[in-house]
Amino acid sequence: MRSLIDISDLSVRELDELIATADDIIANPDKYAESCKRKKLATLFFEPSTRTRLSFEAAMLELGGSVIGFSEANSSSAAKGESVADTAKVISFYADIIAMRHPKEGAPYVASKAATVPVINAGDGGHCHPTQTLTDLLTIHREQGRFDNLTVGFCGDLKYGRTVHSLITALSRYEGMKFVLISPEELKLPSYIKKDVVKKKGIEYVQTTDIEDCIGDLDILYMTRIQGERFSSRDEFLRLRDRYILTPEKMVSAKPDMAVLHPLPRVNEISVRLDDDPRACYLRQALNGKYIRKALILKLLAEAEEEKKNGKPRIHNEEHCCDEHTGCIMGNGFGSRIGEEICRETPGEKLVNVIKCDNPACITSTEQELDDIFRLADPEQHLYRCVYCEKKAFYDKDAEQK
Ligand code: CP
Repeated sequence: MRSLIDISDLSVRELDELIATADDIIANPDKYAESCKRKKLATLFFEPSTRTRLSFEAAMLELGGSVIGFSEANSSSAAKGESVADTAKVISFYADIIAMRHPKEGAPYVASKAATVPVINAGDGGHCHPTQTLTDLLTIHREQGRFDNLTVGFCGDLKYGRTVHSLITALSRYEGMKFVLISPEELKLPSYIKKDVVKKKGIEYVQTTDIEDCIGDLDILYMTRIQGERFSSRDEFLRLRDRYILTPEKMVSAKPDMAVLHPLPRVNEISVRLDDDPRACYLRQALNGKYIRKALILKLLAEAEEEKKNGKPRIHNEEHCCDEHTGCIMGNGFGSRIGEEICRETPGEKLVNVIKCDNPACITSTEQELDDIFRLADPEQHLYRCVYCEKKAFYDKDAEQK
């Protein structure tokens, strides 16, 4: 069953198709008003959300379907200790598609393995938020009309900002991209993303702590909130939170068509005085979230229907394996679990219950029944990654056997 766990699960062609569908939905909403008649979406939100949950629900309702679900863990049987897998199995009896947000990294992946309907990751801890990335891509495309040859600035919390990580991964697949990474030293982009994605794809990038120096070069400025909830030290958070505040004064040196994006919610990193500037796209971006989620629901339900009819999973075609489908282990060495399941080319050497993931945010830290599974990412370095949260682990099998 096709799910969406990581943005890399979608090929470039599929991204383009989703954007084209969203554009068509925007232009012809009535055409889609009954597309999901008699279908149900379950929104399982174990963590707070405004945009993601309600735009999913609005999307399904506008497609003629209906919605069930919960908006906090305490109103579900998770509060009584029910596992993510059991929840997903049961909800599959009640709904045709699931959107799940969970504080533990890898929880939607666990759900996708257990469910018999498609599962969409609506954000898992600091790990992935693929439908935000789809929203960002649709907004960039609608504002700038292209994905290639853009200079994109990412500003703020580049360490914990999962939307930044996913958007960099997605944009790295297009030609002529240039990234400007603007953050305090303490919140720099994690080195594995620089190494495994940006450098691997040969993308030109610069790192800076100063937004004024580079704002005039940018086609897109992607602002982010300093993620207070992911800091272990409150003092450190308070010290960094006011570092970048975008104001109309700072926008004076920006290009006349630079687009300012922000996944929202904002705290104070974009002044409300900027909201009337035509370059401020973040509210249009939130609206785009509904359209791209409509396109995604249509795609995954159509694929599930096809699978039911044919009695077998949809197999990735040549296009997905393995250069195009970067989520495949043959592509970038981390990412897609869908690739792992159905990409026939994937070697997929794994360690099962040999080592444990030491990431306290990993779903394996709370769900003891899960197997500890690591997938070989780099044989030369003996580097493995947890299949749930992608945390690195080094393990030399030969040295252990001696
Ligand atoms: N951008 C985003 O994920 O917003 P919510 O947390 O409100 O869903």
